[in-house]
Amino acid sequence: MQAITPSVAARTVYLNGEFLPSDQAAVSVDDRGFLFADGVYEVTRVLSGQFVERGRHRRRLERGLRALEIRLTTAELDRLDEVADRLIVENGLGVGEATVYLQVTRGAVSPRTHQFPAVETRPTVYLSAASLTSKDELREHGVSAITVPDMRWARCDLKTVNLLPNALARQKAAVAGAYEALFVRDGVLLEGSQTNLFAVIDGELRTAPATNYILPGVTREVVLEVARSAGMHVREFPVLADEVYRATEFFLTSTTNDVMPIVRIDDDPVSDGRPGPVSRQLHSAFMERLSWGAGE
Ligand code: PDD
Repeated sequence: MQAITPSVAARTVYLNGEFLPSDQAAVSVDDRGFLFADGVYEVTRVLSGQFVERGRHRRRLERGLRALEIRLTTAELDRLDEVADRLIVENGLGVGEATVYLQVTRGAVSPRTHQFPAVETRPTVYLSAASLTSKDELREHGVSAITVPDMRWARCDLKTVNLLPNALARQKAAVAGAYEALFVRDGVLLEGSQTNLFAVIDGELRTAPATNYILPGVTREVVLEVARSAGMHVREFPVLADEVYRATEFFLTSTTNDVMPIVRIDDDPVSDGRPGPVSRQLHSAFMERLSWGAGE
């Protein structure tokens, strides 16, 4: 007899205009996302059905699409907000914490050529939603990180799906038993493989400036605002590799980590090896801001 209920594992996803079970969603082998990593993505946080910092994620997506010259109209982008809302409801994620993943590639075209296909080629648009497990226990004790050479290209400010250097770095961290890998370029610590990096040095909060060498994280921006309004001394200037030992605190920020203290880098503890007061204060202030639903 044919099964009439979908398998428990099959979430509802969205692909090119259709809502369908994830195990029936398929992308063409000619897709330029598959062949060239030719596309951008976003990961957005959802708290009790409310999207966090939707406007900032939308602006970063639009900027990435413009930089890659992938064309989606304003109406098409507006529609994606409705798609994301529906995925939260259809997957039963309206309570608790969730994330929505969105990816747009330049679409499928044959034969394979490096240059862009005809302008009529429709981008491939994919969205999915998943529940997010709390990292509070991890945050209580803090995490460890390793440093790795930054092998990425010179447009790290674009959130493209070309994540091979990030994946290799994160794998190196996993093998070393660490939580994150921190990219070092020309003697400067820039950011993690999937997080931004902050440090406290001489009582000043520091993070790399939003140049082409880091991803301008949404969480980074909000944490900077929260820190400034709490009266902290803030400087968008990176930590130099030879200053690491002077930092009294390090922490990571991202959509899925919020503010996550780092208590060990390579073989050395950060201060006494426990989360410090600045990361605790910023985490509470950040969570408070999320709970008022700020940043539509
Ligand atoms: N990572 N830096 C990099 C290289 C990232 O990939 C990310 C996000 C961040 C933090 O950005 P935001 O605060 O906007 O999440 C910084 C996402 C979540 C990921 O790849 O899953």
